[in-house]
Amino acid sequence: MKKMWAGRTLGASAELADDFNSSIHIDSKMYRHDIKGSMVHADMLARTGIISEADADAIIAGLEGILNDIDSGALAISPDAEDIHMFIEATLTERVGEVGKKLHTARSRNDQVAVDVRLYMRDEVAKIKELIIELLDAIYEVAEAHKDDIMPGYTHLQRAQPVTFGHHLLAYAEMLKRDFGRLCDAVARMNYSPLGAAALAGTTYPIDRALTASGLGFTAPTANSLDSVSDRDFCVELISAFALIMTHLSRFSEEIILWSSWEFSFVELDDAYTTGSSIMPQKKNSDMAELVRGKTGRVYGDLIGTLTMLKGLPLAYNKDMQEDKESLFDAAETVARCLEIFAPMVRTMKVKSENMYRAAQRGFINATDLADYLTKRGIPFRTAYKTVGELVAYCIAHGTVLDELPLEVYKSYSPIFDGDLYGEISLKTCVEKRISEGGTGPDSVESQLAALANFIKEQRAK
Ligand code: ARG
Repeated sequence: MKKMWAGRTLGASAELADDFNSSIHIDSKMYRHDIKGSMVHADMLARTGIISEADADAIIAGLEGILNDIDSGALAISPDAEDIHMFIEATLTERVGEVGKKLHTARSRNDQVAVDVRLYMRDEVAKIKELIIELLDAIYEVAEAHKDDIMPGYTHLQRAQPVTFGHHLLAYAEMLKRDFGRLCDAVARMNYSPLGAAALAGTTYPIDRALTASGLGFTAPTANSLDSVSDRDFCVELISAFALIMTHLSRFSEEIILWSSWEFSFVELDDAYTTGSSIMPQKKNSDMAELVRGKTGRVYGDLIGTLTMLKGLPLAYNKDMQEDKESLFDAAETVARCLEIFAPMVRTMKVKSENMYRAAQRGFINATDLADYLTKRGIPFRTAYKTVGELVAYCIAHGTVLDELPLEVYKSYSPIFDGDLYGEISLKTCVEKRISEGGTGPDSVESQLAALANFIKEQRAK
């Protein structure tokens, strides 16, 4: 195929090379953003007197038509085009004639693509932020409903101390709120306009970069033309924020998978978010959660791929950078799909509070509270710790639990023990007495819930 850049060469590259070189399969996703960038550029060219008003009007009207036709399906993006920038420019010239060739004045595909990816990702991140809010809302709903339900809290996957299920879920809300913040930070740093950097060195035309920057909703133009066309830090920042979201979803998935097992039976996922086995009739598998956990590896790969693609590149633009979109878009799409399925999966899961409570009754998770009982009555913590350890060993040897051990046995270990100890080590007391800020006590959980509700409300109002 004869190339738009034919000149220095005949533009007659091998078909195999054309195919290899093309990025249309991925960058066609950015057609709206490419057209928007071109419209603002054409308008600026007219305002600065670089092209005439009439030419700009013809170009902008032509671009408008292309946008509408791609949107409606009347115009198909050719899979044979080299990239979306070339396709739109070529179509424009086909439609409006010679004047279409003026669009690329004072611009290069190098600054054009840097603009497009930023504009595209700004929109993608906005969608992902909404999906995070949706998931936070689902977490809120389940946490609120189960704010008093006691479960074992774990360390080393061993029962440790009682917590409420609401408190446990709210830990994930904290992670997702930080994720949300990271996306906002990354977008704020990304939101500078490279347009006008041209190929690498700037341009001899009297362009107005502030005008195009504000026309495209950027904070300001970027400062250095070489950096403008070679910077892909924002891709790395975004993918790393996506990777961390996946880490959180993956940990959450792992817990949901465990909780859904017969061994735990803490939750049962709604049928809508599970699958059966083709051979084992009894199975109800947490495939959605497992897939989220699995796809996490893929997003990590996108991050490492992008970092590695960039590490040896000399300034400024190199074709290697065309690969940025493969990883970035894949990571964004993967994270969006995972968030999308996660919210209804969490919202509809059945919480088996009785099983959680029963598990909390086993495993001596009130042992710390028993030690605290002695400590509050003057015994040094280390001594109390040892006494309680011995009592736990006694219970294990006698097949009983701390709550059921007779007072005489307690007294034989320490004269400090008295009948009030049973109230002090009840699961309810253990939870209710964890009154420190951020702890599992009811006031703390209430204020975490209120803060989350507020966060969701504020973000939705924006
Ligand atoms: N398709 C290219 C990319 O995605 C656009 C920029 C091409 N620039 C160039 N000098 N060949 O990076």
